[in-house]
Amino acid sequence: MKTPVCQRHKCIEAIQAHRMEAIRLMIAGMSHDLNNLLMGIWTYSSSIQRLTLDKEIRKKCVGIARLCEKMTDMIKKMLLLTKNGCQLRPSRLNLNQEVEKNLQMLRDMISPSIKIKMDLDPALPLIYADSTAITEIITNLVLNAAQALSPGGVITIKTSVVTVTENDCLEHANAYPGKFVTLTVVDNGPGISPEDLPRIFDPYFSTKKGCRNHGLGLAVVYALMDAQAGWVHVESELKKGTKFELYFPIRSMAGC
Ligand SMILES: Nc1ncnc2c1ncn2[C@@H]1O[C@H](COP(=O)(O)OP(=O)(O)O)[C@@H](O)[C@H]1O
Ligand SMILES: [Mg+2]
Repeated sequence: MKTPVCQRHKCIEAIQAHRMEAIRLMIAGMSHDLNNLLMGIWTYSSSIQRLTLDKEIRKKCVGIARLCEKMTDMIKKMLLLTKNGCQLRPSRLNLNQEVEKNLQMLRDMISPSIKIKMDLDPALPLIYADSTAITEIITNLVLNAAQALSPGGVITIKTSVVTVTENDCLEHANAYPGKFVTLTVVDNGPGISPEDLPRIFDPYFSTKKGCRNHGLGLAVVYALMDAQAGWVHVESELKKGTKFELYFPIRSMAGC
C-alpha cells in the first residue's frame, strides 16, 4: 500500500527533527570539551614559543596558534546550531519590510539571468523576530535556489498569513496550532531527490563539490527558525522545483 503524501511529509520532517536534535545535543556536549582541549594546546604552544629562541620552532608555534583560532571559530559556528548558541535579539517587525530591505543585496549576489519575483501580502501582522536572523535565512534560501537554477530560472519570494489547525499539525512534525506569518521561497529548479530530502538540514550535508565550508546553510536556517518558535516546511519534486516555507508565530504584545 502506498503511504499518503501528507504522512510521508510528516515522516520526513520527524526524521529531520530527530537527526537535528541528536546533532545539536552532540555539538553542545562536545564543544565545551573541545574548547578546553584547544585552550590546553594553545597554552602549551605559547609556552614553547616563549621558552625557545629557535626561529623554526617559534614559527611552528605561530602556526599552531593560528589553527587553534580557526578551530575556535568553527566551534562558535557549530554552537549557533544549538539551542543556547542562538543568541537572538528579537523585536516586533514587518516581514515584508525585512524582505524588501534585503532584495537589492540578494539581486547583487546572484546571476542576473535568474529572476526574483515578489508576492508579498500587504496586510501582514507584525512578528516578533530577529532582523539579522531573517537576513541570514532569506540569503541562504535564495542563494541555494540560485545555485540550483539554470539561466532563466525563477525564484519567488512570498509572504502570507495562515492559520494552522490541529488537523494541519497531523501532517507536519514541528507544527503547532495558531496564526502564523509565512515566508515562502520557491524555485523552478531541478528539485531535491527523495534520498537527499531527509538529510538537507544536517550540518555539513551538501551536494556541492569542490568547496570548503559547504553544508551549513540549511542547518543554520533550521536552528534560527527553531530558536524563534517557528519551523521550516520543505517540498520538492525532481525537475519541477523546491519550496521552503517558514512559519513565524504571530504573538500578542503580552507574549513578547
Ligand atoms: N533550492 C534548492 N534546490 C535544490 N537543492 C537544494 C536547494 N536548497 C538546498 N538544496 C540541497 O540541500 C543541500 C544543503 O544545502 P545547504 O545546507 O545550504 O548547504 P550548501 O548550499 O552549502 O550545499 C544542498 O547542497 C543541495 O543539495
Ligand atoms: Mg547553501
